[in-house]
Amino acid sequence: MRILIVGTGYVGTTTGLIFCEMGHQVTGLDLDQRKIEALQAGKLHFYEPGLEELLEKHIQAGNISFTDNTKKAIKKNDVIFICVGTPMQEDGSADLTYVKNVAESIGKYMKEYKVIVTKSTVPVGTAEQVTEWIRAGQKEPVPFDVVSNPEFLREGSAMYDALHPDRIVIGTISEKARASMRELYQGFQCPILETNPKASEMIKYAANSFLAMKISFINELSRLCDRLGINVNDVSRGIGLDHRIGPHFLRAGMGYGGSCFPKDVNALLQTAAANGIPLTILEKVVQVNAEQSLYLLNKIKHSLGGDLTNKSVAVLGIAFKADTDDTRESPSLVIMDYLLKEKAHVRTHDPVVKLEGYPLGANCRQFATTAETVSGADAVVLCTDWDEYKRLDWPAIKLLMKQPHIFDGRNMIDKTAVESLGFHYTGFANH
Ligand code: UDX
Repeated sequence: MRILIVGTGYVGTTTGLIFCEMGHQVTGLDLDQRKIEALQAGKLHFYEPGLEELLEKHIQAGNISFTDNTKKAIKKNDVIFICVGTPMQEDGSADLTYVKNVAESIGKYMKEYKVIVTKSTVPVGTAEQVTEWIRAGQKEPVPFDVVSNPEFLREGSAMYDALHPDRIVIGTISEKARASMRELYQGFQCPILETNPKASEMIKYAANSFLAMKISFINELSRLCDRLGINVNDVSRGIGLDHRIGPHFLRAGMGYGGSCFPKDVNALLQTAAANGIPLTILEKVVQVNAEQSLYLLNKIKHSLGGDLTNKSVAVLGIAFKADTDDTRESPSLVIMDYLLKEKAHVRTHDPVVKLEGYPLGANCRQFATTAETVSGADAVVLCTDWDEYKRLDWPAIKLLMKQPHIFDGRNMIDKTAVESLGFHYTGFANH
């Protein structure tokens, strides 16, 4: 089957390459000429472990090519995956402008039957809207079907997740399109769930919201554990061993970030409000997440004598989590903002992120090494769970710092080991 992927971000590029692995021919379409040129030359325009090797392999084998020619790309492919961004608008709802543009172009240029698949995370009812937008773009009626097929991959392990999904969800009312999708996903060893488009769209939002809820649950509980002197990691393990709860997404810390959880939880809340059915639990999930960085800031402030003016704070990690260069909604940026407002001096570092567009200046500087970053610092705040930060040379760091304070925003290092070196350690109920 000839597959067109529209939008060459994390989801689009990974999806395209995974279909190449499964033996399909893929074209990647993007309006950004620079992205197309980079991808065609075998270079990813974002950081994702293992994906560039796969890109090179399939470019050399002639299984994937990239173009910015919308008309040609739509004409020559049978199945079109819409993988463009659906950013959050001011009111929390998803902006469907890019999806609409793609749908109208499909209508304009298609000359024969196509299956159009929405992989972008889109609100309930979007499949119907896409159908209308395609029809509106058509000059004469040409048959097509629309399918909702959400993607559940995580940044940082995108390739593994896309190759080994827990499930594949196919939401369509067309038997013909369903048959094409089954053929496309032949060879994947996981359950395939077939639903109508609305249920499929809801599954994606419900999955991300549920995971965000697990995180906010353990984060809020960690505050009570803190007060009671209980190690929240023990509680996570203890409840996670109950197979009805499961061990994942129970790591307490400074809160979730990224391009999905914050955006998707807000979009579902927006859908709920628009339909007059408030999702109160989810409202609290957002609130707890927002409070979590502030909770850490207050601990930093308290430990450093109640005033952060001119205190030097080393913030390790800018990405919203390890193994990605994505800083969208990163709790690390939230902490840096707070620290700067409190008139602290921020020194920061990240193994892959280069801060751009952030008010770097005398009070906020990025360094190339962790040693430079911690030099003269009153405190180190671990914000991203990079492996590099789990193996830091703490005795050497202690010699470089002005005051030996560690704030572990991810409960990621051995408290006893650093305390035995003379550090004051503060985590999230990591007693
Ligand atoms: C998420 C979903 O997992 C994925 O299925 C969906 O397709 C996109 O959104 P992603 O945003 O890439 O993926 O990252 P994920 O690994 O889920 O982490 C999200 C955030 O939650 C990160 O900030 C992470 O640090 C945080 N997190 C995760 C916790 O704070 N505690 C945990 O136990 C797990």
